[in-house]
This record gives sequence, structure tokens and C-alpha cells, in this order.
Amino acid sequence: MLTDGGSHFVTAMTLAALSEEPVHTTLWDLKDETEMGHIQLSREADLVVVAPGTADLLARMAAGIADDLATTLLLATDKPVLVAPAMNVRMWSHAATRRNVATLRRDGVTVMEPDEGTMACGEYGPGRLPEPARILAAAETLLAPAARPLQGRHVLVTAGPTHEPIDPVRYLANRSSGKQGFAIADAAARAGARVTLIAGPVTLPTPAGVDRVDVETALEMAAAVRATLPADAAVMVAAVADWRVEATGQKLKKGMAAAALPLTENPDILAALSRAPDRPRLVIGFAAETERVIEHATAKLARKGCDWIVANDVSGDVMGGDANAVHLINAADVESWAELPKTEVAARLIARIADALGPAA
Ligand code: C5P
Repeated sequence: MLTDGGSHFVTAMTLAALSEEPVHTTLWDLKDETEMGHIQLSREADLVVVAPGTADLLARMAAGIADDLATTLLLATDKPVLVAPAMNVRMWSHAATRRNVATLRRDGVTVMEPDEGTMACGEYGPGRLPEPARILAAAETLLAPAARPLQGRHVLVTAGPTHEPIDPVRYLANRSSGKQGFAIADAAARAGARVTLIAGPVTLPTPAGVDRVDVETALEMAAAVRATLPADAAVMVAAVADWRVEATGQKLKKGMAAAALPLTENPDILAALSRAPDRPRLVIGFAAETERVIEHATAKLARKGCDWIVANDVSGDVMGGDANAVHLINAADVESWAELPKTEVAARLIARIADALGPAA
């Protein structure tokens, strides 16, 4: 596809002759557009490569503008997009371009770093079109089948809160959103694992390829965990209620309000799993702390008997939010990660798990 700007440098005829492929130039080609050509082109491709990606094109892509064939296709495509930028060094370092590149990368577009060197305008710096071999290598990486390091593994994930009934209409609950646990289940499935997600009451959609078991109470969750074994790894993210109420069969009336609710301690699912003879090779707990995070989480690692603890500080608005700053703690050391989206925490944790388990036999 040749843009208007490009056609000032090379002609459609040159590109068609060299590539022996048709060259598309306009959104308003009657023959192409009776078949909705721009949509068709975006569907048939496996990858869209923008080379050269000018400052103007990056800006229009970042803004979602679709005013010619190339930008219309780029807005219509659901395929990976690779941009090989080429522009003057000052244009590349301009705040507007920096912003547009950041926006595109956040949107999932792969924007390469340009090459550095002498430019057509005589200036020196980053901005040169990456060498064709680099563009080809980047395209090959994007087309390679995704790595599936957990292929052949079974991963168990608990997520969300539990609800402990007080009477037929009331329950004890907590503010867990389930987002982190669901993100971990999703990342494990993407990595090729068979995933069983044991979810407390949350309304999140089930990640693709994940077996979901819905439970309400801690006792139900404990039973579901037992029923899911054997597993290679267990990631216990659920915020399990520490206590359950000796529930009455009847709705409590105002006048009947007891001075205190009779509470019974729930079983510790993580501790029990860690000590079970058929425990997964890797058992990972979560620790939500509001103070002395690492100290408390390290003590929890020993108390629960699990292999790793993912600790986070929940004194802010982590619960229900989309980001998380965590520490990965095992018997030997503590690793602190910067604040990351929960999906990124999930991807990194799954990479670590894959690393620890090694390839399946
Ligand atoms: O003791 P605490 O609730 O802080 O421990 C949190 C970790 O233990 C989490 O991994 C959580 O899923 C797990 N847990 C559990 N069963 C309980 C309480 C906590 O599995 N009854």
C-alpha cells in the first residue's frame, strides 16, 4: 500500500514491478471498494508493517484518524502492527512524537527504535529507517507462535473473596475483586497450562481456555481445591474469610440482633495444601499487608509452609484497582517489583513458575 506522501518518492508502478504484487493507493478505488477493499486487506494480512513510519503517520495512528487507505486499514485491522519509524532526529525526539509512540505502544503496536546515523537532511542522530534485516527480524518475532512454556502442566488458581452466610439473606465478605487471580489464570492458560480457577463470588468473565469452578464459602473452596488435585502448581490468590458464622436457618429479625456473631475459624486452605502429601510441586500464597509488609510476609511463608509468597501493600487502593506493587518472597530472597498492571504481575509470575517447573516431560 503506497501512501500519498510515499508516491512523491516512488511510484506505484515501481513497487508493483519489483514486488510482482498489486499496489493499493486509494480508499476511493471503485473496483476495490465494492468489495470493501480496505477491510478485506486488513483481514487477509497476518501482520501489518508500516515502513517508513513517518512522524505524521504515527500521529494519525495514535489519534485513530482514518483519512486515507493506509490509516483506514490500520484502524480496521485486528492483526499485529509493526512500525519502523523514519524521520528527522528532532521530529523523533519531539514531545508530541514521544507521546504518540507511547500511546501506540500502550495500544499494543510494536514501534521499533529507529537506527542512528547521518540522515538525508544532513543531521546526525536516531531517526533513520531501521535496516531491512532488523525490520525482517522484528516481523519474524511477531509472527512466531507464542511461547507455551506451561504446556502439559496443570495449574490451580483460587481467586476472589468468599462469602460466609450469617442468615439466609446476609453474609460476611471482603473487598477482593478477583482481578489479580483471574489475570493469573488467564496468563497461565496463555502459557499453555490446563488451568482450574476456583472463584469466589465475583462477576468477572472467565478467561479463555480456563476451567472455572464457582464457590461461595471457604469450606466450599477448600473442598474444590482438594477435588482439583493433582496439580503441578497452585497459586492461592483468594481472600478467604478467616471466620464463618454459625448461620441460623431463619432470617434474623431486628429485635433478635445478637450482641456478637458466633464465629468459627475457617480452615487455612493454603497451609493445608502446602502440607498435603499430594501437594503441587510449587505452592504459592499471597499476602495482603498494611504494614511491615516483607517482615510479615516472610513469617507467613514459614507459617503456611508454601514455597513462595507474593506480598503486597494494601494500605492504598490496591483492592479493586488495576495495578499492584508486589514482592516475590521465597526462603532464600526477596525480590521487589515496581508497580505494574495486575495483568503484567500475572505474566511475570507465570514466567517465573514456568521457569521453576521446567518443561513438562
Ligand atoms: O493468613 P492470610 O489470610 O493473610 O494468608 C493469605 C494467603 O493464604 C493467601 O494466599 C490466601 O489465599 C490463603 N488463605 C487460604 N485459606 C484461608 C486463609 C488464607 O488459603 N483460610
